[in-house]
Amino acid sequence: MDRRKPDIGWNVPVRTRWAGRRLHYFQETDSTNSDAVRLAGEGAPHGTVVVADRQNKGRGRRGRVWQSPPGKAIYFTILLKPEFGSSRAAGLTLVMALSAVQAVRDCCGLEAGIKWPNDLVLNGKKICGILTELHGGEEEKPCVVIGVGINVNLEQMPEGLTETATSLFMESGIRTDRSELLAGLLERFEENYRIYEEHLSMAGLLEEYNSCLVNRGRQVRVLDPKGEFEGIAGGINAAGELLVETEDGTVKEVYAGEVSVRGIYGYV
Ligand code: BTN
Repeated sequence: MDRRKPDIGWNVPVRTRWAGRRLHYFQETDSTNSDAVRLAGEGAPHGTVVVADRQNKGRGRRGRVWQSPPGKAIYFTILLKPEFGSSRAAGLTLVMALSAVQAVRDCCGLEAGIKWPNDLVLNGKKICGILTELHGGEEEKPCVVIGVGINVNLEQMPEGLTETATSLFMESGIRTDRSELLAGLLERFEENYRIYEEHLSMAGLLEEYNSCLVNRGRQVRVLDPKGEFEGIAGGINAAGELLVETEDGTVKEVYAGEVSVRGIYGYV
């Protein structure tokens, strides 16, 4: 039996110009990020989306596993071939986080926040993770895959995640149509990508991104390999760096590639 045949439970009403116009659906796969990289090698166009109902080797950030049970979550990856270089392309992960917050608001009426740089949280627990992988150097046009996992209709979280993660259903008691949420997210992403491309930075999205930032005004510990420090998180700057004010009043610009940020009093 071909376990990657289409699932009639999914019917994504794509309303975009390019984001998700080409959509590959798998009932089961290892990782949609790996599929997108393979499709890129086969010449798939900018905006190609891979969606799976279940992943057997879902990947999270920092080499972690992303548990991907079937039927109740969204696992998708968008393949991007931007006209700009890798250093600018890294900011697209923040663009995706903002688009996901907006789509959850549009589709479910829920106010999720962003834990910098790109986790979505609801009531202090994670509902969505984003894994961006860049291929290609600054000189050549990069190929970017942005993988998104959203805990949509899960009734409980897998063991080990109950303290830090939740789902849209667990927080609201309402079931969400996964296809509608994905279609809405792709619409938001296409528009936000246009704004990002216009400025080649987060400048045009800064105010809205910062208004969603749950770390803002909170005491955080910055896990920098060059030396950990604590401070109060402000917003991000146009480069997507988190501004953290240390006790002596210095404002440090924290770049997401090298470090992670922990709340002092819990996950956020
Ligand atoms: C994180 O650790 O927060 C990032 C999680 C990213 C998970 C998504 S699910 C779809 C895509 N495919 C993967 O293997 N990972 C990403």
